[in-house]
Amino acid sequence: SPSDPNLVARARAAKEKLGDRVFILGHHYQRDEVIEFADVTGDSFKLAREAAARPDAPYIVFCGVHFMAESADILTSDEQQVILPDLAAGCSMADMATSEQVEECWDVLAEAGIADVTVPVSYMNSSADIKAFTGRNGGTICTSSNARRALDWAFEQGEKVLFLPDQHLGRNTAVLELGLSLDDCVLYNPHKPNGGLTVEQLRAAKMILWRGHCSVHGRFDVSSVEEVRERIPGVNVLVHPECRHEVVTAADHVGSTEYIINTLDAAEPGSAWAIGTELNLVRRVAAAHPDKQVVFLDKTVCFCSTMNRIDLPHLVWTLESLVEGTVVNRIRVDAETEKFAKVALDRMLALP
Ligand code: 13P
Ligand code: SF4
Repeated sequence: SPSDPNLVARARAAKEKLGDRVFILGHHYQRDEVIEFADVTGDSFKLAREAAARPDAPYIVFCGVHFMAESADILTSDEQQVILPDLAAGCSMADMATSEQVEECWDVLAEAGIADVTVPVSYMNSSADIKAFTGRNGGTICTSSNARRALDWAFEQGEKVLFLPDQHLGRNTAVLELGLSLDDCVLYNPHKPNGGLTVEQLRAAKMILWRGHCSVHGRFDVSSVEEVRERIPGVNVLVHPECRHEVVTAADHVGSTEYIINTLDAAEPGSAWAIGTELNLVRRVAAAHPDKQVVFLDKTVCFCSTMNRIDLPHLVWTLESLVEGTVVNRIRVDAETEKFAKVALDRMLALP
């Protein structure tokens, strides 16, 4: 639906008044009405780098989800204030790994005698606490655009990887990019004693995958891929690596949100694409390429509900508050957590 013209005018006026003092970042899953006001759009990796590259902006308004705003706070100076327009914009996947559960898992690995040879690799989609755990224990953060390089690095540091919290990104990268077998991977269930695994299973594994997933991408399945191939002969199936292994295996291309955009930009006019990722992005890509046929991989999958919480009314409220001199919804990571989380994030930023 078209945005309320009055709100659009208010957002424009507030942004203009703030000038260079505000920098607005927009993740590719944000609504059109929000993306319109973003100074930069990107995938999680690009946005982390962009936030770090703006030392002069006192206010960073992060239109995305909570873990992204936390990462921006960690990567920016103490004087800069990071704002999340709606504090309820979390991520169900990030919530699937709590710091107590992860510490308990590390104890299980220690008891099995393998903690010393295990390197934690945590997906950006995790809380600052999990990132701090990762930094304290010699590990790195990764995103969907550098997971392969992060795993290559990790296997140079140790024999095994504990991959948190997205089992699918971990498995897809290990099997499809590093050439490990499915048998090299075990699934650690934080709700079961010892993760539901025997000591022998843990010792034999190369990849210990946390049992987390994205509720949006988890809904795509192989039948959607088969159905679209039948319906549109010659279609290119392009999916995000948070999709299940069978889906990624059945697809033609896999990559981050930024990769998806770049792939469509480079595609031949007249080509057909079925995209398996969040709907705001797919719709925008389709609108940007009227010369190509772009369809959503599955009719039943919808938006990321937490990404969608950031809307124009929240953005206007945030910006107008700043104009009045009030910082609302500041995201602030405590100094101790920040110190170790930054170690892990800096390792990611330094990956070759
Ligand atoms: P990327 O934008 O890094 O591909 O991540 C997708 C995602 O799910 C963010 O929550
Ligand atoms: Fe989290 Fe999935 Fe939404 Fe990304 S799309 S923010 S992983 S729930």
